[in-house]
Amino acid sequence: MSGRPRILAVANRKGGTAKTTTAVNVAAEWAAAGRRVLLVDLDPQGHATLGAGAHPAPDHPGLRALLGAQPPALDPLLVPAAEPGVWVLPPGDPLAGPPAGTDPGAAASWLRREAARLGFERVVIDTPPDAGAALKLGLLAADHVVVPFVPHPLAAEGVRQMARLFYRIATRANAGLRLAGLVPVMLDRRLREHRRVVAELAGRFGAARLLRGVRASIRVAESLGRGLAVRRHAPRSGGALDYALLAGEIELAMG
Ligand SMILES: Nc1ncnc2c1ncn2[C@@H]1O[C@H](COP(=O)(O)OP(=O)(O)OP(=O)(O)O)[C@@H](O)[C@H]1O
Ligand SMILES: [Mg+2]
Repeated sequence: MSGRPRILAVANRKGGTAKTTTAVNVAAEWAAAGRRVLLVDLDPQGHATLGAGAHPAPDHPGLRALLGAQPPALDPLLVPAAEPGVWVLPPGDPLAGPPAGTDPGAAASWLRREAARLGFERVVIDTPPDAGAALKLGLLAADHVVVPFVPHPLAAEGVRQMARLFYRIATRANAGLRLAGLVPVMLDRRLREHRRVVAELAGRFGAARLLRGVRASIRVAESLGRGLAVRRHAPRSGGALDYALLAGEIELAMG
């Protein structure tokens, strides 16, 4: 229980690449394996919060609490997810302002400190697709990043852009940051194009960096809208199996 939590950011500057779905499901898998997990929702849209089945009060400050003069305590800001063992830090009301007014470096230090103080063993951070302060906060707080991508011909460019941003942060502001892997999502191995894009990225980043894929699955898509991890919504589905295996693989990659 003691010690520093391992912190994973899920990031890709391209939209709609299952970042939120991956964050919610990996958090649920780790909790089911007995870990105490904090899910941080850095996207002002709050989809990870909803997708995890957490219901913050309408006036919940979320990350906006960081805009105050004193760094707040994390515990009063946490909301339980549907999956036992997962606690969610919601983004707060987007109309009242995203955490852009905060200093990402200071906010990242606060998050690491508070997650350790509260005994979290794993932190999963869902990041928005734009390269703003929230993504920076996530990459400064994390020690590992995974990049989910849809294996579409244009995906390779998105992954390359994300990799450039990752290396910039990892060589300057957060030297401890590691790339845990690239995750093909909504994958259909029958499609030659999907196999080609996965092979191209494996060639560029190394086969070991290409993590297991998550197949295209209606059950996975449904589960997010219902506020449940796919392991609860459809435990026997292929999507649930994929996320269980992926969570184990990411855990191994994080050392
Ligand atoms: N394995 C899957 N099979 C089918 N649909 C999926 C799968 N994973 C995610 N989806 C669907 O794809 C859409 C995008 O997923 P999600 O919201 O997780 O992406 P995102 O990268 O977080 O998007 P954004 O960039 O807008 O934050 C959602 O409708 C989701 O239900
Ligand atoms: Mg998202």
